[in-house]
Amino acid sequence: MMADKTTPKVVVVGSCMTDLISYTPRLPQPGETLHGHKFSVGFGGKGANQCVAATRLGANAAMVAMVGDDLFGQNYLENLKSNNVDISFVGVSKEAATGENCIIIVAGANLKLTSFDVERVEDVIKDASVLVCQGEITPAATLTALKLARSHKVKTLMNAAPADPFLDAAIIEHSDIFCVNESEAEVLTKVKVKTKKDVEQAAESLLQQGCKSVIITLGGDGAVYSSAEGHTHIAAEKVAPVDTTGAGDAFVGALAYYLAYHSHLVMGEMLQRSCQVATASVLTPGTQTSYPTRDQLPSHLFS
Ligand SMILES: Nc1ncnc2c1ncn2[C@@H]1O[C@H](COP(=O)(O)OP(=O)(O)OP(=O)(O)O)[C@@H](O)[C@H]1O
Ligand SMILES: *[C@@H]1O[C@H](CO)[C@@H](O)[C@H](O)[C@H]1NC(C)=O
Repeated sequence: MMADKTTPKVVVVGSCMTDLISYTPRLPQPGETLHGHKFSVGFGGKGANQCVAATRLGANAAMVAMVGDDLFGQNYLENLKSNNVDISFVGVSKEAATGENCIIIVAGANLKLTSFDVERVEDVIKDASVLVCQGEITPAATLTALKLARSHKVKTLMNAAPADPFLDAAIIEHSDIFCVNESEAEVLTKVKVKTKKDVEQAAESLLQQGCKSVIITLGGDGAVYSSAEGHTHIAAEKVAPVDTTGAGDAFVGALAYYLAYHSHLVMGEMLQRSCQVATASVLTPGTQTSYPTRDQLPSHLFS
């Protein structure tokens, strides 16, 4: 069938997580009950964050994911819908519930997304421009998605977060763009990333592991893009950040948008613009709540 305007150009195969955040003066001791002064619920999960970052910029994006058969799962689906994410390929698992509490991650239903589930959405991956994956679902499902995309010449953007020292080499080999932050780069390359030279050395190591290109994000220092042609440093604007949580996901989501909708731009320009979107996201609190919409950004980012 011909791709039409309802065909998602960005497909994210990844996680949805609900963040339950309790603010307390200190951490409780084992067995202790503590009074907190604030509680909040937020929508997270790297996959969904990146998908929402892309739709905020105007991308037609679909999420391939699994949520729990509970209120968290239902609320999450509503959240994705209200962010214009195509949820036709989000499954509801009866076997596990979702949820995330402070630094305790309950991956739950995210781990129920199987390679078989991914194979069933081959048609939507085939018609996309970019496939985006992260490390919060099973490596088997991620690898299946990357392989399917490759077989249909769909660009693969792999954000290897969180860091996994035992990351399957095949995941790196099936990545057109392999994106990590400094600590993830260190874990995957054993190179201590401090100086500009270290960043380049870590990127070289990842290129040798078989990806076509590498992005290492550097927080307030921007990012480095590396390929066979060499290294390009992209500076971020100097700002006073309010909340940097989810900046990495804003960056990856924005890059997916540019790859799909502004493919005429050179990589350096796409990265410059993605950095600007991510920098905008650190100026307001929250994760998905901090992702800018197209109309909140300068129009030259969309020309
Ligand atoms: N302090 C900052 N000032 C300006 N831009 C920033 C700042 N922090 C992050 N950014 C932007 O966000 C991008 C990603 O940030 P970073 O490298 O911290 O990712 P990350 O570690 O994955 O983020 P997080 O885990 O906080 O979501 C940077 O490349 C930059 O464009
Ligand atoms: C890199 O990202 C992880 C989350 O995947 C985060 O825990 C870590 O603090 C980040 N490192 C840096 C240097 O920002």
